[in-house]
Amino acid sequence: MVAFEAPSELPRDAVSDTTLGRTSGVEEDRVDTGDTVGATTGETVEEWARAYVESTSLAHKCTPPPAPLRWAEAPSPCDPRPGRPPELRVSLAKPRSVKLGALRAPEARARLLHKFWHHELQAAELMCWALLRFPDTEPEFRRGLVRICRDEIRHMGLYQRHIEALGYRVGAFPVRDWFWERVPTCETPVQFVALLGMGFEAANLEHTPRFATWFRAVGDEAGAVLQERVGREEVGHVRFATRWFRRWTNGGDFDTWCASLPPPLTPLLLRGKTIQRERRLLAGMDAAFIDRLEAWRPSP
Ligand SMILES: [Fe+2]
Ligand SMILES: [Fe+2]
Repeated sequence: MVAFEAPSELPRDAVSDTTLGRTSGVEEDRVDTGDTVGATTGETVEEWARAYVESTSLAHKCTPPPAPLRWAEAPSPCDPRPGRPPELRVSLAKPRSVKLGALRAPEARARLLHKFWHHELQAAELMCWALLRFPDTEPEFRRGLVRICRDEIRHMGLYQRHIEALGYRVGAFPVRDWFWERVPTCETPVQFVALLGMGFEAANLEHTPRFATWFRAVGDEAGAVLQERVGREEVGHVRFATRWFRRWTNGGDFDTWCASLPPPLTPLLLRGKTIQRERRLLAGMDAAFIDRLEAWRPSP
């Protein structure tokens, strides 16, 4: 069923082997990875996260070292910006939109997958950004960010593998730091989860099945399965964001969510053409929220 396995060059449990904080000598919330702890240098998770964001090495972006055990004692907020490896050509141009028919060409599929690869990279980096920018959030939240970061890096590996199967490589197409242009405008953790998790990642619950259909229609079954896999795995990321949003806003509803989006973003960009109701329910959004999202129209 699953077409791709995590490439061997990916980090072996790069982040989930993180033990965050010890309370009174009691180890808490250790994630079982079956792996050994990689960091022995005394580095903190915050230093690791900042190094990931700011790195200009493609190898580091794709295969960061394992996350350390230790968290900083009293970190100050910091607001880093991403390093870009020389292999990646950053463009400010709006990418061409893709039509189904064009995907018959392997180059068009590789270009689209390269865009998705770069979305994953930005998501991984922005999880690190959030734990650095909002150090006063609950440890459980920051632990979750590291786990999601690890998922996004794994997704990068899945995309990279298929790009290469199509005869291309990472760096073959320009990239645009679209998410980085927007997400750091979030000034609170509520805004962050509203925009990234309940917004961009939730829209992916709708985009991935559409692209799976397109890949299948042009005979790229592996590409279709990859879209389905990533779409399934994003559900947990959206659920994470929804849970924290509700906790921090006392069960905030659709209006609270809209009010939490940093301007000028509106729900219009944060949903697909056909709402995936079941997936959004699985991700913790309630029916009333989904109804309002589906019915939302920009004011004239
Ligand atoms: Fe992802
Ligand atoms: Fe995600």
